Amino acid sequence: MKNYTVIILASGKGLRADLGQPKQFAKIKGKILLEYSIDVFLEIGMNVILTLPKNSVWNNKNKYKDVLTVEGGETRSESLRFALKHVSTKFTLIHDSSRPFVDKRLVKKLIEELDKYSCVYPTLPISSSIVVDKNDMLQSTPDRQLFKEIQTPQGFNTNRLKLALQQFGEAHIHIPELIRWLGDDVKHIDGSPWLFKITYKPDYYAAEKYLELFK
Ligand code: CTP
Ligand code: MG
Repeated sequence: MKNYTVIILASGKGLRADLGQPKQFAKIKGKILLEYSIDVFLEIGMNVILTLPKNSVWNNKNKYKDVLTVEGGETRSESLRFALKHVSTKFTLIHDSSRPFVDKRLVKKLIEELDKYSCVYPTLPISSSIVVDKNDMLQSTPDRQLFKEIQTPQGFNTNRLKLALQQFGEAHIHIPELIRWLGDDVKHIDGSPWLFKITYKPDYYAAEKYLELFK
């Protein structure tokens, strides 16, 4: 696994979750949220880089001596760019710390596909119907089958990832799209509903309940 580095992004403000602090530092069942995903990737044996906000309150560096911490930026893609400077392995995974429940089988599947594709990531079918809206007025109702929800971790061939960012800058928030712009095929694998992102407060309570039921 030494060919793989995972960048765990944890430099956001967590404004939508409104937990009184950035959500990645909130405790769930006594453990800090961002440590759930760190632990999985360390168990798998990957190199781990963690981005933190400026003046971060995370003080568990002693326990996680093997984790390289990097100060993040104003946006997710800036945090990624700062972390990527420290990556020298053939493959890079990017993971949002706000998705605490990483499935090892899913990571294994992703790694297998990375041998064939320069970018691989999990997706889920959309669960709600979606509409096109403009100024709170219905414009049209697209076919839901055409859409999928994006999850992380997202895997990349590091050289292709660095080239894509160099070539297209931060033009697009969805990094796999930049890989497609390079002309590479981008592969989707089946995601998992348990890999949900903590975005709003109810997601935080769902995460607590998940641990109570399954861990
Ligand atoms: N992230 C980051 N650096 C930023 C912004 C976001 O590393 N400048 C990370 C977050 O910590 C999170 C992931 O990107 O793990 C996905 O972002 P999101 O869920 O939107 O988290 P926040 O930006 O923190 O939340 P919000 O948008 O509600 O403020
Ligand atoms: Mg955000």
